[in-house]
Amino acid sequence: MENFVYHNPTKIIFGKGTETLVGVETKAYADRVLLHYGGGSIKKTGLYDRVVASLKAAGVDFIELPGVQPNPRLSLIQEGIELCRKHQLQFILAVGGGSVIDSAKAIAAGVPYAGDVWDFFARKAEIKAALPVGVVLTIAAAGSETSPASVVTKEEGALKRDIGSDLLRPKFAILNPELTYTLPPYQTACGVADIMAHIMERYFSRTPDTDLADRLCEATLRTVIKYAPIALQNPTDYTARAEIMWAGTVAHSDLLGRGKVEDWGSHMIEHEISGIYDVPHGAGLAVIFPAWMQYVYQTDVNRFARFAVRVWAVEMDFAHPEKTALAGIERLKTFFRSLGLPVTLTELKVGTDRLEEMAAKCTARGPVGNFVKLDKEDVLAIYQLAQ
Ligand code: NZQ
Ligand code: ZN
Repeated sequence: MENFVYHNPTKIIFGKGTETLVGVETKAYADRVLLHYGGGSIKKTGLYDRVVASLKAAGVDFIELPGVQPNPRLSLIQEGIELCRKHQLQFILAVGGGSVIDSAKAIAAGVPYAGDVWDFFARKAEIKAALPVGVVLTIAAAGSETSPASVVTKEEGALKRDIGSDLLRPKFAILNPELTYTLPPYQTACGVADIMAHIMERYFSRTPDTDLADRLCEATLRTVIKYAPIALQNPTDYTARAEIMWAGTVAHSDLLGRGKVEDWGSHMIEHEISGIYDVPHGAGLAVIFPAWMQYVYQTDVNRFARFAVRVWAVEMDFAHPEKTALAGIERLKTFFRSLGLPVTLTELKVGTDRLEEMAAKCTARGPVGNFVKLDKEDVLAIYQLAQ
C-alpha cells in the first residue's frame, strides 16, 4: 500500500426532503449567490420552486444562470464569471448533475483569477483561490458533488479537459434520492456506467497489498449491479435510488482509491469522444471500458480473474485463469447491454474517421493511464477494439 492523505471535507446531507435545507446551508457562506442550473429539468420537477423557497426563507438573495448543457461549455462559464463579478456574488449554488456542478466549479475558480479561466484547463496556471460551491444533486453519476475535479468543453477545437483542486470540493452536497425518480432510463443507465467506471479506474491498479480498498471497490460495484436493474424497472423505488446515489458519491469520493495508484486511462480516452460527439460521458465509458480491459488484461490476469470471481460470481478456472478474466469482461459488457447502453462505437454512432485525431489529442500531453501507460498507438488500438 502507498502512503496517502484522505481529506474529503464535503458535508453530505442525505435523504428524503433534504433539499429544503439548502437555504440554511447556503446562508452559512453568503447572502448573495449565483443559482446555477441546467436545461430545465429542475423546473419541470418542481425542485426549482422548493430551492427558491428555501433560499428566500433563509434570506439568501440570488442571481440565476440557467442553461448548462451536458458536457458543459466554456462560454457559459465565462458568462457566469462576469455575472459573479458584476453582482459581487460570493457563492455558487449548483442544482443539477455533474455538468452543472462542474460548470459551477469552473466559475468558482475563474472569478478570483485575473486571466482566462481556460488557463487552468490548459495547465498554464494553478488554482490559488475559488469561491465556495454548494450542491443539490439530481442525478447519481459523475461524483462531482464531493470531487475536486471539473470537466469542461471548450467549443473551439472541441477540447474536453479537466482541472482538479481541493479548493473546488463543494462545501456541502444535498443528496435526496427522490430527486432522481424523474431521470430518463437512458440517463439513469449512463450514470450507473460512470459510477462503475469510477470504481474500476481505482480497482485496476498495479499497487500490491490493497485488500481493504479492493474489497470496498468490489462491494460498491456489487451494490450498483444489484440495484441498477431495479431502478430501471421501477424508477420510484427509493431503496434502489438511495443505494445508487450513495454508491455514486462513495465511488468518486477518493476513499476507494486510497493507498493505490489509480488508472484513469479510460476516462481520458472517453473524454475525446464526448468532447467531439457530445454523447453522455457514461455511454462513452460503457463502450471504452470493456475495450480497455480487453487491451490490457494480460498485464495482470489474476486481478482480472479476481474481478470476474468476486464481482460477477464467475467460477474460477484455475487451469485457465485467462478464461475467467475474459468471462468477467464479457459479463460487464452484457450488464451494460442489459441496461440499454451501447458497448461499441458503432452503437454510439461514432464513426471511424476521427479516431486518429482523437488518439493524438488524448495523448498530446504524454501517455495516459497507469495500469498500463498508453501512448497514441495504444489509444488508437483501443478505439479500434471498441468499434
Ligand atoms: O439539464 P437538465 O434539464 O437538468 O437535464 C439533465 C441533462 O440533460 C438531465 N437530468 C439531470 N437530473 C435530472 C435530469 N432529468 C430529469 N430528472 C432529473 N432528476 O440529465 C442530463 C445529464 O446531466 P449531466 O449533469 O450532464 O449528467 P452527469 O451527472 O452524468 O454529468 C456528466 C458530466 O460530468 C463529467 C462528465 O465528463 C460530463 O461532462 N464528469 C465530472 C467528474 C467530476 N467533476 O469529478 C467526473 C466524471 O468522471 C465525469 O468526467
Ligand atoms: Zn466519469
